[in-house]
Amino acid sequence: MAEADRERWNQRYRERGEGPGAPSDFLRAWEDRLPRAGRALDVAGGLGQDALGLARRGLDVTLVDVSDVALEAAAAAARAQGLALTCLPRDVEAVGPPPGPFDVVVCLNYLWRPLFAALPGVLAPGGWFLFAQPTRKNLTRHAHPSARFLLEDGELPGLVQGLRVVELTEGWTGAGRHEARLVARR
Ligand SMILES: C[S@@+](CC[C@H](N)C(=O)[O-])C[C@H]1O[C@@H](n2cnc3c(N)ncnc32)[C@H](O)[C@@H]1O
Repeated sequence: MAEADRERWNQRYRERGEGPGAPSDFLRAWEDRLPRAGRALDVAGGLGQDALGLARRGLDVTLVDVSDVALEAAAAAARAQGLALTCLPRDVEAVGPPPGPFDVVVCLNYLWRPLFAALPGVLAPGGWFLFAQPTRKNLTRHAHPSARFLLEDGELPGLVQGLRVVELTEGWTGAGRHEARLVARR
């Protein structure tokens, strides 16, 4: 990633001036099936709302992101809530995900296709992977995210490698986004 892209994300988070909100509906829908102990990784987790949700469950969570502004906000929220959270500045597109094994990996609203090939290597046996990303059809209702950040419609099944699919859906969500969502296990 170019330094300009990192600064673009930092700028976006500075302008929003927010801390993390509630974990995503998708994570909340599945969290009762996820383990309450072990290691979790949130890839490009931004302000950390999902990472904090996993930490609240008892998981030992690492949040990686290129934006140090987002990571600082996530770390401050973790301190305020009395939760342990490891915040790691990391350009995953340059150096890949951190070494596992992780019992849970989440990647929400961030698309870097080579992550799918790396997952069997970082997930523990039986480990869970949760992924959600809008697809091209989302453009029929929303200008953002722009096309370069979107999955093609119907693309997600072909990206999954070395994992057992528990559930894969694609369609309009209650929040009005056209998303592909995957829950898979190693
Ligand atoms: C749309 S936000 C999603 C954040 C969070 N997962 C969520 O659902 O709110 C995309 C995130 O990807 C991060 N990002 C972009 N490129 C990255 C890279 N190469 N490595 C790690 N994080 C990256 C950005 O800083 C940003 O926080």
